[in-house]
Amino acid sequence: MDDPLTPAAIQARLGTRWLGRTLEVYESLDSTQTRAVALARAGAPAGTLILAEYQTQGRGRLDRRWHAPPGSSLLLSLILRPALAPSQAQRATMICSLAAVRAISQVAGLAAQVKWPNDILVGGKKAGGMLTELGARGAALDYVIVGLGLNVNLDVRDLPATLTPATSLAAEAGHSIPRLELLVAFLEHLENYADRLAAGWSPREEWRGALATLGQLVRVGTTEGVLEGLAEDVDEDGALLVRSADGRLHTILAGDVTLRGAPVRNES
Ligand code: BTN
Repeated sequence: MDDPLTPAAIQARLGTRWLGRTLEVYESLDSTQTRAVALARAGAPAGTLILAEYQTQGRGRLDRRWHAPPGSSLLLSLILRPALAPSQAQRATMICSLAAVRAISQVAGLAAQVKWPNDILVGGKKAGGMLTELGARGAALDYVIVGLGLNVNLDVRDLPATLTPATSLAAEAGHSIPRLELLVAFLEHLENYADRLAAGWSPREEWRGALATLGQLVRVGTTEGVLEGLAEDVDEDGALLVRSADGRLHTILAGDVTLRGAPVRNES
């Protein structure tokens, strides 16, 4: 393990006002996400950070498991309480992915991208993923839990074989990456984005720039079936806009995307 992520070390370095100021750090936990949901329901404040060095039941999207060897990664969940409607909850995930991309660039010197909706790619391979869960109170959002799993200093051969090619920041950079610095940079960027979001700023434009998915031919698995087409754009709330071969534009709110490459241009 490089730099143990203790509460004292985190608090000493962190320059945020409210994000990560309430925190729990575990050597081992079933899932930071499960813990954060329970705390959010019990009224924990916005900005609460749950971090674990190891998870016995790490959860991924679409009921998948999330694996990471002890002390190798950033495994965390954050309680956010943005003044948004439930249909706008993905904006919280959009800013988390933007904060992760910035932190990776700042600390590891790597160009990261986002694969819609929630994957962090480095060198075209999955280096991290996010899981969003929300609670509503009537027509308003009560909380959004954003969970981030980032492969920092791990050897991908220690991970179970997955469909998506995986990587880690250390593998891409060729050296280990200081996790404390990465965590602090992520939280500081995220607080800045969250404050801007609260002031009415839209993350759409910046998110567009970070997405590896746009302009690509994609296959999207949705609850209604499989859709193939050109990923043209995203809307304000992060939905993917896909143009199918019959010319129709589909708004995809959730799903699993396979990138099939850039479209062939007809130069005639
Ligand atoms: C995905 O790509 O499927 C999303 C993975 C999210 C994993 C993180 S690790 C920290 C947090 N706690 C969990 O149980 N899951 C998220």
